[in-house]
Amino acid sequence: MKEKTNKKISTESYKGVRDFYPQDMFVQNYIFGIMRKVAESFGYNEYGASILEPADLYRAKTGDEIVNEQTYSFKDRGDREVTLRPEMTPTAARMVAAKKREFSFPLRWYSIPNLFRYEQPQKGRLREHWQLNADIFGVESIEAEIEIISIARAIMKAFGLKDGDYEIRVNDRKIMNYILEDFLSLSPAESHSVSKIIDKKDKMSKEDFADKIRSIVGEKSDELTNLLHSKNLEEFISLLPEKARTHQGVLEIKELQNKLAELGIKNTVFSPTLMRGFDYYTGIVFEIFDTNPENRRAIFGGGRYDDLLSIFGAEKIPAVGFGMGDVTTRDVLETYGLMPKYKPATELYICVLEEKYRNYARQLAQDLREDGLNVAVDSSGKKVGDQIKYADKNLIPFIVCVGENEVKNEELKIKNLKSGEETALKASKVYDFLKNKKS
Ligand code: HAM
Repeated sequence: MKEKTNKKISTESYKGVRDFYPQDMFVQNYIFGIMRKVAESFGYNEYGASILEPADLYRAKTGDEIVNEQTYSFKDRGDREVTLRPEMTPTAARMVAAKKREFSFPLRWYSIPNLFRYEQPQKGRLREHWQLNADIFGVESIEAEIEIISIARAIMKAFGLKDGDYEIRVNDRKIMNYILEDFLSLSPAESHSVSKIIDKKDKMSKEDFADKIRSIVGEKSDELTNLLHSKNLEEFISLLPEKARTHQGVLEIKELQNKLAELGIKNTVFSPTLMRGFDYYTGIVFEIFDTNPENRRAIFGGGRYDDLLSIFGAEKIPAVGFGMGDVTTRDVLETYGLMPKYKPATELYICVLEEKYRNYARQLAQDLREDGLNVAVDSSGKKVGDQIKYADKNLIPFIVCVGENEVKNEELKIKNLKSGEETALKASKVYDFLKNKKS
């Protein structure tokens, strides 16, 4: 046994994770509430799983950076390698593969898991974050991408963001694979390395990027960098070899942009450097970025991953989905002044004027709770002024004081602490009164 020391334990939380005090939890619940409401409005059903997964789950297709540098992995007491989930997609795919014969497709699923990545904590990046995942399984056509991006857009709208506040960057793995493997004739390992360099383009200088590309691509590296710098899809297509101008990847991007525009979603931008770090994507990939340069991080990221279920030996099931992080969402809401104003869950505070009325106050509170109100009763026994101050400081909107008159006449005076307005009414009417005030 280890010897106990008298060293004081720090009150700081572990690096890169957050404590959620009630005010923070309020914002978190607000964010989750909107995510849930919108996902369910599109017919998505919630699922969940443990944060612990076998480490192997991520080795196949999550990508080297996350697996080698960012996972929290350990051996359990039975010598099994365990990982705290760094993302939800492999878990969702595992769950679908395990029971796929029982399901009738398409499946529309959502979840808001907490995820763990050992990153350098900084703005928009922490070691634990929550992420809405909305995924549709079993749809081969571009209808899946349209639906998934429409959900993302509906969430932004529900938060009060306008289309001009953000852009939806899109690309397609199919055309990128064609460029790397066919046009540049790179081996699978080389094209994997180049795609990782492209993925990190914004994190390095122009020269560094060009050097790294040249070292693998060789003489055709200028052609690649020109393609990557194209300002729009038309320019990109014009730089492609003639026979690739109608490549499926290009047609998919065009079709997606056109169909989204028909739905009024016009803020899509073709982005040839958008690679998405995961190895499982097979087609359209997309990310949503705030147009405000202060928030340079993606709020959403997702795409099509038609092959992921094959890692479980299951037959292919096409899938499209996205993840939307709570940290970046909070940053965006702050930037645009869209943070919700804190309100405690407590709706009514009962002050007790003298000890002998405490039983009455407790009974009153119990009756009101049974009606469905959130009620706290003073337990301090302090002067009434202090009790009122307490309620005020804790932003409880209404108080009622219980003393001789209230008990004798069975009539209460409810005070709105913000306006100071007082209303006299019978105890049986308190519920209706407060519910009317809320609506
Ligand atoms: P991702 O791009 O890694 O995708 O994450 C999606 C979003 O989660 C990011 O755009 C960002 O908002 C947030 N996020 C990611 N890492 C962190 C972090 N360390 N701190 C704070 N926020 C973070 C995925 O995870 C895919 N599995 C999404 C997906 C679902 N693809 C298909 N279905």
